[in-house]
Amino acid sequence: MTTKYLTIQEAMDKGSGAVALHGWVHRERGSNKLKFIVLRDSTNTIQCVFERKNFEKKWDEIDKLQLEASLEVEGTIKKDERAPTGYEVQVSSFNIVGLSENFPIAKDQSKEFLADNRHLWLRSRKMTTVLKVRSTIFGAIHDYFRGQGFYEYQSPIFQAVQCEGGSELFEVKYFDKKEVFLAQTWQLYAEPAIFALEKIYTIAPSFRAEKSKTSRHLTEYWHAEMEMAWSTFEDIQRHGEGLIKHIVKCVLEKNREELKILERDTAKLEPTLQKPFVRMTYTQALELLKKKCKMDVEWGKDLRTIEEEKLTELYDVPIIVTHYPKKVKAFYMMEDPKNSDVVQGCDFLAPERNGEVIGGSQREHNLEEIKKRLVQQGENPLNYEFYLDTRRYGSVPHGGFGMGVERIVKWICGLETIKDAIPFPRTVERYKP
Ligand code: 4AD
Ligand code: MG
Repeated sequence: MTTKYLTIQEAMDKGSGAVALHGWVHRERGSNKLKFIVLRDSTNTIQCVFERKNFEKKWDEIDKLQLEASLEVEGTIKKDERAPTGYEVQVSSFNIVGLSENFPIAKDQSKEFLADNRHLWLRSRKMTTVLKVRSTIFGAIHDYFRGQGFYEYQSPIFQAVQCEGGSELFEVKYFDKKEVFLAQTWQLYAEPAIFALEKIYTIAPSFRAEKSKTSRHLTEYWHAEMEMAWSTFEDIQRHGEGLIKHIVKCVLEKNREELKILERDTAKLEPTLQKPFVRMTYTQALELLKKKCKMDVEWGKDLRTIEEEKLTELYDVPIIVTHYPKKVKAFYMMEDPKNSDVVQGCDFLAPERNGEVIGGSQREHNLEEIKKRLVQQGENPLNYEFYLDTRRYGSVPHGGFGMGVERIVKWICGLETIKDAIPFPRTVERYKP
């Protein structure tokens, strides 16, 4: 066939006349005389009708078509109320491109089975839909930062230092070398570059050897990070809020149909767009937890998942929690000038019990202070010489944040687990297929 193919959606928008389509068998049923094949492509599904009288010689082929076989069809499209998506194609010619036998995925299969067959499960309506929203989100992140004058910049994945705590590092075999790790964050390799580009961002994989089997932890996730020179702590929070608002706006503009398929209540996303985010200090968060949720957290302890979840239930917009105790946060976070027990760090907690989606801070830019903090956290400053040079040659106030993209996808799509926010999830238990 030399015809120009339309997508199923384009064909339905056209609504009548001759069309050529290609796609996969989504459903099939029929009799001796008629065969109904629901054809699927990335845009939609449509019922195609094959009448035996037009295909007497090829009826065997048609009759044997199974789920997920790929084919090209030509025919006439028309409205039909009885068809699953409201349109039907009367097929005049067809060509089978790839056969499919006994496609393993049928109804009501266990989560484990679907995970083992993830490469096939990607074709499901749910995964296809989530992946479309995910694509919008990636696009929105690029748009936002580029629109704000940030350069896209890349850091190495093989790294010889830790940044977010040694216990969550993946050590890799790197020839005969010891202590080579997969990146937990781009941060230590981004800070040197702000002296060149000033405002930078990335979207890249990050790796965490998290033992936690929760609905929001992956061992490999996509990390959207930004770093900027001359920033204030306020700038970092403002960009975090701006980024999340922009993402939600893009998804609501481009993916109404997908959110409907996912049965996502979009009214729950609107406040994020329309209202300012709630801001509170860690200390205020503890007071609130005590007063409104009857939860007693000792000052100095990090917020746990259940506490974060409780807080998010009190508001319909993300919460920015700031000024955490120094001892629960990373070595690079800058002390608060008014209170040396707390740092200028912030976590963004997403509504509906989604919890932390962004972690960021103003960076400590004083050389002696950062060395001291490294030692306090059990690190050898000699391993950080390249990084410490950022504080030796023209150090400037700066800061940045990291956003877990799958956590954003999970929240926006209203998914039960982060595993459905990424094509091939990697967790403690799963690294295949
Ligand atoms: O809070 P984190 O550890 O901060 C950093 O890595 C900083 N160096 C970022 C920066 O300032 N450039 O991680 C940032 C975000 C978290 O808020 C969370 O959304 C996500 O990364 N994240 C994970 N997402 C999925 N699975 C995991 N195991 C994650 N760990 C962190
Ligand atoms: Mg964090």
